[in-house]
Amino acid sequence: LVLDDVSYQLPIVHGTEGERAIDIRDLRSQTGYITLDPGYGNTGSCLSNITYIDGDQGILRYRGIPIEQFGNGPNFIEVAWLLIFGRLPTEEEYRGFAADLNANANLDEGMKLHFEGFPRAAPPMAILSAMINALSCFYPEHLELDGHDSLRLASARLISKIRTIAAYAYRHSQGLPYIYPDAKLRYVPNFLHMMFSQPYDQFQCDEVVRNALNLLLILHADHEQNCSTSTVRMVGSSQANLFASCAAGVCALWGPLHGGANVEVLCMLEQIHQGNVTPEEYVRRAKAKEGNTRLMGFGHRVYKNFDPRAKMLGEAAEKLLANLGRTDPLLDIARKLEEIALQDPYFIERKLYPNVDFYSGIILRALGIPTNMFTVIFAIGRLPGWIAHWWEQNQTMANKIARPRQIYTGNGQTDYTPM
Ligand code: MLT
Repeated sequence: LVLDDVSYQLPIVHGTEGERAIDIRDLRSQTGYITLDPGYGNTGSCLSNITYIDGDQGILRYRGIPIEQFGNGPNFIEVAWLLIFGRLPTEEEYRGFAADLNANANLDEGMKLHFEGFPRAAPPMAILSAMINALSCFYPEHLELDGHDSLRLASARLISKIRTIAAYAYRHSQGLPYIYPDAKLRYVPNFLHMMFSQPYDQFQCDEVVRNALNLLLILHADHEQNCSTSTVRMVGSSQANLFASCAAGVCALWGPLHGGANVEVLCMLEQIHQGNVTPEEYVRRAKAKEGNTRLMGFGHRVYKNFDPRAKMLGEAAEKLLANLGRTDPLLDIARKLEEIALQDPYFIERKLYPNVDFYSGIILRALGIPTNMFTVIFAIGRLPGWIAHWWEQNQTMANKIARPRQIYTGNGQTDYTPM
């Protein structure tokens, strides 16, 4: 078996710059051959016009719009619409969508009963995934979506309720009573209200805090075929419903190699801080792989240049802390680690740059979000991307179930011998 001979390459089609359409029927795998690509490092699983990444240049665009242009502008709900429906909403569409979000923020009383059954120590990601799946039981009308209007309402429900579920998961973990959503508040302030209420009411009017969380959600909203998004597409390819597919996405995101990575970064920064290790010494240990020391939040499967989200999040963390009139020693350590690593041939040669997880934990910590909620916030941000991909999969790959092959390495035929 000569594996090297069997792979074939396709031209890379640049989303917004695509010169030609490719007929999906041309892309059928060649019968009889299997391309072995562990971790799908170099396998294109679909055509997509949602998000464009150029990993060499460090470019990221949502529906053609460079990520940098979201820095001071839109709110998360506009971006959600953009990703799901392919263009920015008109004012009327935005208002209608925001009204649907408000109207659907509450959880069904039956769903709330489920919360009571979870142990206090239940991981919020487990609750999140279970509850998103449970939406399939409460909204059977969304089990099949047949067009723009049904997608719009199902998306509004899901995007609105994920935030309520997340806040309730947190309140449950603290043994605190739930706080009902407040229809007067917009998306992000309403979430902060349900999380903290008094004495954190300043969140409702504090633009700095609101903007920081809004930006963080936008920057996490999509990232083409990452592990959770490709999971959503894979599950959706069996024609599983939107809620079930996104619940699977939450599970994929949970792991420390994916959404859980910013927690790892924060632990590393804490360790450096508490242990009085200098950033120079830490980088040295990471290079020598001493005692498994790793520079967390550095390097990315796709980016061989700066992850543009990391740049924006680093700046946002600085701005947030300055506006709050606070400092955070962990931010200083992160900045120093970045400076040292980016001048070091070891990191330069390996093209290791800070990724999205490097600064996000510092922002979340400044907002008073506990560590066990970090990945939950990532999930709230990523949801519009999951919905967009689920729909695209459903529309463009109908009846084409995802079904990778494997290279079998086990026994040859063996006879059954009774015990
Ligand atoms: C993401 O945003 O999902 C992460 O950067 C991981 C990835 O893209 O593979």
